[in-house]
Amino acid sequence: MTDCPPLSPEPPDQAPPSSLPSGWRCRPASPADASAVAALERLALPDGKTTGSAESWARLLRSPSTQGLLVEDGLGNCRATCIWQAAAQQVELLLIAVHPAFFRKGLGGFLLDEMVAICRAQGAEVVFLEVAENNTPARQFYEKKAFVEIGRRPRYYRLSNESLKDAILMSLSLKGVMVNSPRES
Ligand SMILES: CC(C)(COP(=O)(O)OP(=O)(O)OC[C@H]1O[C@@H](n2cnc3c(N)ncnc32)[C@H](O)[C@@H]1OP(=O)(O)O)[C@@H](O)C(=O)NCCC(=O)NCCS
Repeated sequence: MTDCPPLSPEPPDQAPPSSLPSGWRCRPASPADASAVAALERLALPDGKTTGSAESWARLLRSPSTQGLLVEDGLGNCRATCIWQAAAQQVELLLIAVHPAFFRKGLGGFLLDEMVAICRAQGAEVVFLEVAENNTPARQFYEKKAFVEIGRRPRYYRLSNESLKDAILMSLSLKGVMVNSPRES
């Protein structure tokens, strides 16, 4: 299994607003990227207890319904990833994670826009996701990207300090159709 080289600590000098910096690239994620995806998730998520293992990401990435994208810098280091599952015109966003050294430089927005464009081209009608109620940056990120809150799963996430947090369910209609909950449209 070939993985991306280890993450280097220095952020780039210039920020990529809506496209990638020169020399960076975005490519499909494969099962061989599972360790890099798990490492990015662990680094990026505010509470590591809710993260998946490399094995679980490899299993998911082997599934024909799972797709993903990975952003690499000019040296081939993985800097951001986005993984989703699609079935019956419905998409579930499983993970979007940016290396913390590159937060707020447009990488997350770039990946989400790419994912939405791919899903739209494949005929998807709606994207669903779940986000912990205390993950304010992610909630603001999704709101900026026009996701709307459609429900809650009470006490869904157990954090490493053993506190329980609600999951906020959000959706983005790709067809201008209101969708209230997953798998009910
Ligand atoms: C959420 C996440 C993917 C956003 O990626 P990013 O590359 O940092 O975000 P972007 O630079 O594309 O931001 C786009 C917009 O989202 C909003 N946003 C992003 N981070 C924010 C923050 N920390 N606080 C407030 N708003 C934020 C802003 O409106 C921002 O636009 P602006 O910078 O012009 O104001 C990234 O912070 C991340 O990986 N977080 C940890 C993992 C995680 O929580 N994933 C979601 C789990 S459901």
